Amino acid sequence: MQTKENKEILIAPSVLSADFSRLGEEVKNVCDAGCDYVHIDVMDGHFVPNLTMGPMIVKSIAKASSKPLDIHLMVKNVPFFVELFAPLKPAFMSVHIEEVQHLHRIIWQIKDLGIKAGVVLNPHTNEQDLEYILPDVDLVLLMSVDPGFSGQSFIPSSLKKLENLKNLRDRLNPNCILEIDGGVSDKNITALKNAGIDMVVAGSYIFGSNDYKQAIQSLR
Ligand code: DX5
Ligand code: ZN
Repeated sequence: MQTKENKEILIAPSVLSADFSRLGEEVKNVCDAGCDYVHIDVMDGHFVPNLTMGPMIVKSIAKASSKPLDIHLMVKNVPFFVELFAPLKPAFMSVHIEEVQHLHRIIWQIKDLGIKAGVVLNPHTNEQDLEYILPDVDLVLLMSVDPGFSGQSFIPSSLKKLENLKNLRDRLNPNCILEIDGGVSDKNITALKNAGIDMVVAGSYIFGSNDYKQAIQSLR
């Protein structure tokens, strides 16, 4: 029987680490390998020092994917990007707390579009900043690297932060999903599970392996 303690975690491979010359095939392969969501990193060259995918590419990914999309917006001008990606009907769309002036407005905008809304915290942002928004969100995404690139090292203080966040979540919104993104691998997955994670993003760990199915299984 699955209790809350031994439940399986959700896995969302980040296509940022995929081979972009064979993007459709990569997306299909990782879906066939048993992931739960496909994580999409949208970067605008302003909020982060990198530029990735616009809606045309993400539309092609959605076509190739048999799994729902989990869109992570690393952008300035957040309302514009929410409108731009909403027609692709992702399961989740998450925005950075550091960039949004009027967070409830954006969260409700995303929900009104029929999409589950998430809020993202950079590694240095205090989880206590979520106190007044947590009851309104479907997901919290903790960055465990400074956003911008895949293949970076996991920031160790993220574990303590996750434990604190879990307490806050259990108190304020037990149904909210806790997701972590950056440097996730077989080296830290057990500690993340013990700290209460529900869903992990993994880029280089999955796409850098030569057996996606085995990589996903090893995280579960
Ligand atoms: C970083 C992105 C991540 C990244 C994860 O800004 O948000 O999703 O692709 O890649 P790994 O798992 O390699 O750290
Ligand atoms: Zn991401």
